[in-house]
Amino acid sequence: MGIEDRLKNPLIGVIGGTGMMGSWFADICESQGYRVLKVGRRTKVSMEQAAKECDVVVISVPISVTYEVIKKIGPLVSMDSLFMDLTSVKKMPIKAMLRYSDAEVVGLHPLFGADIDHEQPKKVAICNGRGEYGKRWVAELLNKTGFETIFLDCEEHDRIMGIVQGVNHFETICLAFRIKSSGMSWREIERSSTQTFMKKLERIKRLFSQEPELFASLLMDNEWSLKYVDLYLKEAEKLFDILNKKDKDGFKKIFYSIRQFIKRGMQDEGDMG
Ligand SMILES: NC(=O)c1ccc[n+]([C@@H]2O[C@H](COP(=O)([O-])OP(=O)(O)OC[C@H]3O[C@@H](n4cnc5c(N)ncnc54)[C@H](OP(=O)(O)O)[C@@H]3O)[C@@H](O)[C@H]2O)c1
Repeated sequence: MGIEDRLKNPLIGVIGGTGMMGSWFADICESQGYRVLKVGRRTKVSMEQAAKECDVVVISVPISVTYEVIKKIGPLVSMDSLFMDLTSVKKMPIKAMLRYSDAEVVGLHPLFGADIDHEQPKKVAICNGRGEYGKRWVAELLNKTGFETIFLDCEEHDRIMGIVQGVNHFETICLAFRIKSSGMSWREIERSSTQTFMKKLERIKRLFSQEPELFASLLMDNEWSLKYVDLYLKEAEKLFDILNKKDKDGFKKIFYSIRQFIKRGMQDEGDMG
């Protein structure tokens, strides 16, 4: 049987299907009438069984164990199946799926999580692995279930996530750290907050309601996060030096250069649209 036949009425195995993102993917597959095996460490169906039997095998386990899980089950995934993952970093799992299996390979990254904002478009990044058919199939599945798809090279994805997740989460955690060390109570700060700052406090609350493992991985298992946090700190130091010297002209120069950068970016967007 070829992949075209297998994807007509596929059996989908989600390794990590008992977790948050695995359940999300399982739900959208079930909404299309597909049969899904949700695999966890204590489920009746094992990951090895699912890898052997399923037409589509999806990895959605913590980043720290993703490589080992792919190494273990990759060789069991059949050549005419589709092998995918939902990991927040893309180079490592895609390389591993290509190395340990002969199946079609696609990398997905849902660009939302526990703190999903239903007002914003829900986007999923799709990265090339091996083959075209499976990629088109999953893009179609996502589009018809209400998700926007963006196509990125896996290296480019990880580089962008170095800012979108790395620097972003680092900044939020630093702010929370400062608030904690300020000697003021959370309630005291909340009571006197501006509307803008209330949004930041909400963001901090949402981040700290989740488990630290994911953030530790986003900051430490994507080489670009470390690179960009390092540059961020250097830029912060430069800015602090300007403040310390009360150099308002220097401050304005940086301010205007960033304004220009944003304006140019928005114009490019307009040109493309
Ligand atoms: N959370 C987010 O905001 C978010 C957003 C986008 C992408 N992602 C990605 O989605 C993936 C899963 O994250 P999640 O937040 O859904 O995690 P989660 O809710 O903690 O779920 C993890 C899943 O992996 C299984 N698991 C845990 N340790 C395992 C091990 N050693 N071997 C095999 N299976 C194991 C768990 O099964 P049992 O506990 O039932 O055994 C569970 O089904 C990660 O790669 C993450 O980068 C997360």
